[in-house]
Amino acid sequence: MTKFPKVFIYDLDGVITDTAEFHFLAWQKLAEELGISFDRQFNEQLKGISRMDSLDRILAIDPSLQTYSSEEKEKLATRKNEYYLELIEAVNPSHILPGIEALLLANKEANVKIALGSASKNAPAILDKLGLTGYFDYLVDASKVEKGKPDPETFTTAADALGIAYPDCVGLEDSAAGVEAINKANMFSVGIGDAAHLSHADYLVTDTAALVFEEIIGQYQKKSPRF
Ligand code: BG6
Ligand code: MG
Repeated sequence: MTKFPKVFIYDLDGVITDTAEFHFLAWQKLAEELGISFDRQFNEQLKGISRMDSLDRILAIDPSLQTYSSEEKEKLATRKNEYYLELIEAVNPSHILPGIEALLLANKEANVKIALGSASKNAPAILDKLGLTGYFDYLVDASKVEKGKPDPETFTTAADALGIAYPDCVGLEDSAAGVEAINKANMFSVGIGDAAHLSHADYLVTDTAALVFEEIIGQYQKKSPRF
């Protein structure tokens, strides 16, 4: 019998909507205030990882910034989140990336469950702003995940909650850490972005407009001997 996945686990930032850009802008603003700068290339490694892990990587750019206490770091992370919240205030359904709603509808039609596996504590609020919450069978609570991406925990949490075996899961990610997490979970990884960062994805598309449900299923079935 041909194997069919039972759930698609979506990342949010950079997959469902372009909030990855807002994370970048908010971190850049904070970094400038600290007298450091970083570019988009550096930002690739911040994608998918938690707020505090991102801050640690940014502070590591300048050896003189290693003296912050954990309270001071909490304040810096909160400040970044305030900048981020300002940027996402205007998010609305027009900010859903191309192809995403069609893919969610195709999931529903095929009876394939839908879960959210985001590292962001802001994810449920953003999903609401986009008007997409109703599609989702399960949202991973980022504040309860102990080991963030590239650890597989985010993705296995969704599968476990829905009672679905890992090889029956498809994960969709725009970050290198996220694709690594999906692969480590023994799930099928769909990477969205550049081969320079996401060559380890089982199936790679350049942007969300290129996501087609039947194509993902076909690629999953080709790869399923791995499972
Ligand atoms: C991920 C983003 O989805 O969420 C990261 O890719 C971000 O850039 C992380 O740092 C945590 O988000 P938040 O909203 O909890 O600060
Ligand atoms: Mg992402």
